[in-house]
Amino acid sequence: MRKVLITGVTGQDGSYLSEFLLEKGYDVHGIIRRSSVDFRERIAHLEGKPHFHLHYADMGDSMSLVKVVSIVKPDEIYNLAAQSHVQVSFDSPEYTADVDATGVLRVLEAVRACHIEKTCRIYQASTSELYGKVEEAPQNENTPFHPFSPYAVAKLYGFWIVKEYREAYNMFCCSGILFNHESERRGETFVTRKITLAVSRISQGLQDCLYLGNLDSLRDWGYAKDYVECMWRILQNDKPEDFVIATGVQHSVREFTDLAFRYAGIELEFKGKGIDEKGICVKGPEKMIGKTLVAVSKDFYRPTDVVNLWGDPTKAKAKLGWNPSKTSFEELVKIMVEHDIAKVASEGAAIKVRTNLAEYLEKGIVK
Ligand code: NAP
Ligand code: GDD
Repeated sequence: MRKVLITGVTGQDGSYLSEFLLEKGYDVHGIIRRSSVDFRERIAHLEGKPHFHLHYADMGDSMSLVKVVSIVKPDEIYNLAAQSHVQVSFDSPEYTADVDATGVLRVLEAVRACHIEKTCRIYQASTSELYGKVEEAPQNENTPFHPFSPYAVAKLYGFWIVKEYREAYNMFCCSGILFNHESERRGETFVTRKITLAVSRISQGLQDCLYLGNLDSLRDWGYAKDYVECMWRILQNDKPEDFVIATGVQHSVREFTDLAFRYAGIELEFKGKGIDEKGICVKGPEKMIGKTLVAVSKDFYRPTDVVNLWGDPTKAKAKLGWNPSKTSFEELVKIMVEHDIAKVASEGAAIKVRTNLAEYLEKGIVK
């Protein structure tokens, strides 16, 4: 039975990848870090399965990583753990560098320290944020990098150290340069999930208005479930190579917002520009008509923002046989809205008790 180690197993991608690899017959090991609340929502349904195991370790602690790698002796490692929020990386740049840059080095060195570098294949969760202040569109494997946040700069180190270990030590280690991928398990402060949760609350009378930052920002959004399959395909390739993983289709934050409201039966008209732009209800429940349901808050503007991500998945299609069009943008938004409408309806009472979080998200106290 092939053994796999996943860092970041509790995250959006880690949870889908675990399901995918269990289904493929792998013995799956994940690392978790100690938290004051032992509530691992995304993987709770996997805990207790015979081939799913958890180990305590931290990306900031080399000894813990060496220990886990020496116990598991994995055939494949998926290094997904990261401080993954771009805006938070401006608030905690040093921590982000430690986990997202040096953390990658720690994983590579743990593999060497355990003498499994000839047999263990390593996937590094790289990112389209490397293209940052983009130099061409769409972006492919040859597009120059121009990182535009502390997060992206840290991830750039991760990309290059993986390449260096591949060349210096002949290790099978690769980066997947993944464009934004979302799901009903997406963290609640990333823009798509923030939108679908707010749409669900607004349509059920639990929130008045959704405050966002840059509505013009463009992203190539895919479905996380489709993307984890590609991570696996990258490691099954004949040779270690880096790949862009994207849908090849681009939409703005405004378009995502507009469509999400439509799926909840509400139509908006956007008026004004920049900080003064508003999304006003023109169709929907009587009491909402004419109300401002979307507004812009400067709290969600970033010191530097990446505004034009658009990936070219030609290489992944040709060499990995991956289908980037499995889930369309429209289907993705629908999946997320339907999920969150049901979630908000079932948790309505509990959410009212937790109004602080809803209020914080609404007013921008939590980003
Ligand atoms: P996520 O939901 O934020 O999950 C991040 C994971 O990393 C969580 O399991 C988290 O554990 C873990 N982690 C954070 N700091 C850690 C530390 N010091 N030690 C151990 N574990 C730590 O992120 P995601 O969306 O699944 O993304 C997975 C990876 O892909 C990340 O590296 C991200 O940067 C990269 N990526 C994501 C996208 C995307 O659109 N989703 C695109 C390109 C690249 P806790 O649960 O304990 O916090
Ligand atoms: N989070 C957030 N909140 N973003 C907003 C908001 C808001 O209220 N309003 C507008 N945006 C804009 C951001 O400025 C950004 O341009 C875009 O929406 C997407 O923001 P996020 O959803 O936070 O994602 P991201 O693109 O910065 O980062 C995600 O994708 C990267 C791959 O490109 C993360 O998953 C990263 O870990 C990942 O590497």
